[in-house]
Amino acid sequence: MTIKSNVSLKPFNTFGVSATTKYFTRIEKIADLQTLLKNPIYQQTQKLILGGGSNVLFTQDFEGLLLYNNLKGIQKVKETKEHVWVKANSGENWHQFVLYCVEKNWAGIENLSLIPGSVGAAPLQNIGAYGVELKDVFKELEAFDLQTGEIVIFKNQDCRFGYRESVFKNVLKGRYFVLSVTLKLDKNPQYKLDYGVIRQQLDAMNISKLSVKEVSNAICIIRQKKLPNPKKIGNAGSFFKNPVVSQSFFEKLQNQFPDVPFYRLDADTIKVPAGWLIEQCGWKGKKVGQTGTYKNQALVLVNHGAATGKEVAKLARDIQFSVTEKFNIKLEQEVNTI
Ligand code: EPU
Repeated sequence: MTIKSNVSLKPFNTFGVSATTKYFTRIEKIADLQTLLKNPIYQQTQKLILGGGSNVLFTQDFEGLLLYNNLKGIQKVKETKEHVWVKANSGENWHQFVLYCVEKNWAGIENLSLIPGSVGAAPLQNIGAYGVELKDVFKELEAFDLQTGEIVIFKNQDCRFGYRESVFKNVLKGRYFVLSVTLKLDKNPQYKLDYGVIRQQLDAMNISKLSVKEVSNAICIIRQKKLPNPKKIGNAGSFFKNPVVSQSFFEKLQNQFPDVPFYRLDADTIKVPAGWLIEQCGWKGKKVGQTGTYKNQALVLVNHGAATGKEVAKLARDIQFSVTEKFNIKLEQEVNTI
C-alpha cells in the first residue's frame, strides 16, 4: 500500500472535471485499511472514499487523503430452493455485478442494470430505478470503522434506508468504509415491469420467453435512450432528488399546473419529478458555456467537455433558483459536492 501525492482526479469522476487530491491511495485488501490506521498522513488529514466516482462533483482540489476502493470479488454465500445470498466486495463495478447475477438467472436487481458506480456506493444512497430500490434485496453489509479499525455488520434496518438515503449519508457520514454488500436474490423471478415503459420496451423486443436477462436488456435500452453515457458526456446521473410535497401543497400546484406528473407515496405525500420542474423553467437541453442539462432528461447536468466543477455547481444553483421562483419548491441535490 503506497500513498501518492498530487494525483489528478479527472479519470476518477464521471463528470470528467479536473481536480487533484493532495494524497491518494488504493485499497486492494482489508489489511490496507488496517495499515493505514497507523499512518500519520491518514491520522492527520481528512479522508474521502471514492468508488466509481459517479455521484460526486469536484468544485475544488481535495486537500486530504483519497481512498480509492479497489476491493474485488463476488461469492455465493448461501442458497436455498428459492433464494441465493450473494456477497460482492465494495470495489466491484455495480453493473458488472448485476450482469454476473443476471447470467446466473438470479433475479432482483435486473431493474438496476446500467447504474454507474461501485457496489460499495449502492447502499449509501439506496440506489433505485424502474420501481426497484437496493433496500428491496439488501441483506447486510460489512463496514470498516475508519476511527477504530473495527469491522461492523449493518443489517437492512440498521442502514435506515429511504429515498436516495441511508444512515451513511447523514449521521454516520464519513465514519465507515463499506467492505462488502450481501443481497438476497430470487431463483424464481418476480419481475417488476410496471414502471414507465418497461412493458412497451419488452413488447418491442418481441421476445419469446421473459427472462432475467431480457428484463436487464430492456432496462439497458431504456436507460441508453434517456441518459447520457458518462464515457461520452460527463455527468453524474440525476443531479437532484425528486422533491416530496404534502397533499395540500400539491393541490395548489396542480391547480396552477394541471399537467404536473406525480407519484403518490401515501395519503399525504407526493413525489414530483424534478426533471419536469426543471424542463418547465426552460432548462432542458440548454447549454451554458461547457455545461448544461441533457437534451433527453433535464434532471441530468452534463459536462460538454471542458466544464469546471464550479461552473456545474453555478448552473445547479441557477436551476434551483428558477425552480423555487416558479414553483416554490427547493430542489435538494443528490450528487455530493466537494
Ligand atoms: N420528465 C420531464 N422532463 C424531463 C425529465 C423527466 O418532463 O426532462 C418527466 C417524465 O416525463 C416523467 C417524469 O418526469 O413523467 C419522471 O421521469 P423519469 O421516468 O425519467 O424518472 P426521474 O424521476 O427523472 C428517477 C431517478 C433515476 C431513475 C429513473 C427511472 C431520481 C432522482 N432519479 O428519475 O435515477 O433512473 O427515475 O427509475 O429519483 C439517478 O438517481 O441518478 C437516476 C438516474
